[in-house]
Amino acid sequence: MDWPQSICIKEVGPRDGLQNEKKYLSTEDKVSWINSLALTGLTYIEISSFVNPKWVPALHDALEVAKKIDRKPGVTYAALVPNQKGLEKALQANIDETAVFMSASESHNKKNINKSIAETFPILKEVVHDTLAAGKTVRGYLSAVFSCPYEGKISIDKVLFISEKMLEMGISELSLGDTIGTANPTQVEEVLEAFLKYFPKDKLAMHFHNTYGMALANILISLEMGITTFDASLGGLGGCPYAPGASGNIATDDLNHMMNEMGISTGINQEKLLAASCFIEEKIGRTLPSHALKAEKSKKRLSK
Ligand code: HMG
Ligand code: MG
Repeated sequence: MDWPQSICIKEVGPRDGLQNEKKYLSTEDKVSWINSLALTGLTYIEISSFVNPKWVPALHDALEVAKKIDRKPGVTYAALVPNQKGLEKALQANIDETAVFMSASESHNKKNINKSIAETFPILKEVVHDTLAAGKTVRGYLSAVFSCPYEGKISIDKVLFISEKMLEMGISELSLGDTIGTANPTQVEEVLEAFLKYFPKDKLAMHFHNTYGMALANILISLEMGITTFDASLGGLGGCPYAPGASGNIATDDLNHMMNEMGISTGINQEKLLAASCFIEEKIGRTLPSHALKAEKSKKRLSK
């Protein structure tokens, strides 16, 4: 197999990872964690969400976090933005990149952002336009690409139609969400085959949640099909509060370990990543799903 020489891992832990956690981290801990993530070699960190804090209270301090973190040159600090109100705050926070988001499922879209799909298009179009006019970049997420917790599988024609609309708005990249982590490699192959007929592979990223432990297998088939950008969350934290059954994202530490073992460069230092993973596990106060983290901890115990 001709694997790519390198891939890009986009860290979504401080946003996707924390948004669903029962225990809220202090602003200071978020800031320390994000600063340590920036020192691992990661070049992209989604630091928070400028959504309504009544909807996602765990990320109520997005503005403060954005203002307090160190900005390491070469790192893109991004945040989720649902509408103009969110964009105003994101620009105030001097975010490098905004991430707009919607769902391919009417029911999930409504539960998640309180709008129909048709109502969402003009809102996102304006956010994308104004983000670009402010000299920032913007990426997009499409949720429920593989399955929806309320509607099951969404037709590929609908998924492609919404994707085209989002890309036409001017987003630089579309991240395809396996929101509830039910996708399998055959399905990923089918979906990507359909996508790659219409869109260049460098416009696509994959966002796999790991509910059934299939995220690494899904990443492998995506790599085979030429995709080289993957979202991941340190320790395997994560989940959408408005998608029942959604568990954590693929753990950044597991993905980085697999890439290292396969000789595919990520530019990320695994030891520093694991140290940041230990930090967040301790702060969250529960054992995180990352296999690399578990292995590291048992090695340390054995060497004592
Ligand atoms: P809404 O209630 O329809 O908003 O919520 P509205 O425009 O009708 O305004 C109602 C109130 O919300 C007003 O305040 C607004 O000011 C306020 P009031 O007058 O009642 O005091 N408001 C805001 N406040 C702060 N920031 C804002 C904002 N906008 C309005 N940006 C809204 C619409 C989109 C805001 C709401 O539904 C929301 O915040 N949803 C966020 C849900 C969310 O964050 N979900 C998780 C992220 S998505 C995800 O995890 C999936 C992903 O990972 C990919 C995958 O896995 O598939 C990306
Ligand atoms: Mg997600």
